[in-house]
Amino acid sequence: MTAPDKPHGPDNPGAAATPVDPGRLDTERRIRAYERQLRRLASELSLAEARERREIASDLHDHIGQALAYVSRKVSALKGNAVFSGMDEDFSEVLSILSQTIRYTRDLTVEISPPVLYELGLSAAIDWLAERAHNRFGLKVTSHQSGPSQPVADDIKVFMFKSVQELITNAAKHARADRVTVHTFWRPDFLEIRVGDNGCGFDTSTFESGLTAQDCFGLFSIRERLSYAGGRIEIQSAPDRGTSVLISAPYTLTDEADCD
Ligand SMILES: Nc1ncnc2c1ncn2[C@@H]1O[C@H](COP(=O)(O)OP(=O)(O)OP(=O)(O)O)[C@@H](O)[C@H]1O
Ligand SMILES: [Mg+2]
Repeated sequence: MTAPDKPHGPDNPGAAATPVDPGRLDTERRIRAYERQLRRLASELSLAEARERREIASDLHDHIGQALAYVSRKVSALKGNAVFSGMDEDFSEVLSILSQTIRYTRDLTVEISPPVLYELGLSAAIDWLAERAHNRFGLKVTSHQSGPSQPVADDIKVFMFKSVQELITNAAKHARADRVTVHTFWRPDFLEIRVGDNGCGFDTSTFESGLTAQDCFGLFSIRERLSYAGGRIEIQSAPDRGTSVLISAPYTLTDEADCD
């Protein structure tokens, strides 16, 4: 009787390596390509949304905002001329409604797409986010910079701005923090931003394992967008020890950015 063949493996180093299943390799390659495509799609959607919001905001400002300002000036002049007409109160009421609508339109324009991001750049936009967080959530957000600022491509600006906005919102929503610090590091070849809070912290193991709860999209979208842009996200947090999130990205979006 012949002895049965020894199984292949570490106990039998002389044995031939397990043949690689070409079908499995092909499936893995296709899954990776599909993941890359999904990441690209999500990032392109997010950029398309930002472009569309910018157009809507500029339409609101150029057409509705300007027209309301013109009407307000006209009504104000008419009110002056109609001082003895007995319609003074009516004019005042109309002017007050107009002025509220102008204010509302201006706030809405800024909320849809803050012009500061495109006109004054990322640093100014982060300062704007800090001020907004204070007004909106009562959160004290301080912003610091290190290194000489550099030009940032619009796509990267949008990704970083949205990421910082999400991280500040998370600190307000989940951390029960009263202080948030945003530190921007202008490195020679890439941009790095650290957002830290003094809140309750959380267990990051789920996020690190690549999983997230089904209805939690914030951190997941930051990771996907930055990965598409050739950047990354790193979270340090522990219960009761606050949270510090570091995000980074190159200054321009490159074609190779999406490679594994
Ligand atoms: N700064 C933080 N402090 C404490 N917990 C946090 C912080 N940031 C995130 N978390 C925890 O991580 C989870 C995932 O955050 P994520 O932003 O992905 O989702 P979300 O904020 O719950 O929902 P969404 O962002 O989709 O509105 C949160 O539900 C929260 O439990
Ligand atoms: Mg969130």
